[in-house]
Amino acid sequence: MTLTLDPENGILDPCPQITPRYLSDLKMMFKDQQVVDEILKEENRLIYEIRYYPFRTSKSDMALAVTRIFPGSIGGEYHMTKGHKHERDDQPEVYYCVKGEGFLLLDTLEGEFQAIPWRAGTITHIPPMWAHRVINTGTDLLVFIGVFHLSAGHDYEIVAQKGFSYRVYAVDGKPALIRQT
Ligand SMILES: [Fe+2]
Repeated sequence: MTLTLDPENGILDPCPQITPRYLSDLKMMFKDQQVVDEILKEENRLIYEIRYYPFRTSKSDMALAVTRIFPGSIGGEYHMTKGHKHERDDQPEVYYCVKGEGFLLLDTLEGEFQAIPWRAGTITHIPPMWAHRVINTGTDLLVFIGVFHLSAGHDYEIVAQKGFSYRVYAVDGKPALIRQT
């Protein structure tokens, strides 16, 4: 099976499944709930979209996801993915930044944290048991590819409950990692 990706726009072809993530879908992920509520009164902003392709051929299959995160911020906090941990504790993932600039945040949610600066061409291996979230700190789209095992599973709830150790804000127009207590 061969797919085609438009790297400028993050459009995958063919693509059997597109999942949009609106502000209402990741309301609890942003720090400033008052600002979230104010924005939601005006518009339910599209923060990012995921395009999936599952390569179903055997009992042990891979999948590919292309995510495009739109530029912007909520209460000074850059647009980001919800972030998740894999349900299976033996499942890694490979992320490849195709376009844009930002950070990949890695957090065990048990005291260990890394922020990997990202730009087009960066490839990062995410070990099992590390929660992962991507932040778009640029003024254009950030496009990245994730390659993972179909059975990995996505646990978003643990991230909503525990949160990442750091948030990424625009401070004087530049990204700043702010420790969360
Ligand atoms: Fe993942």
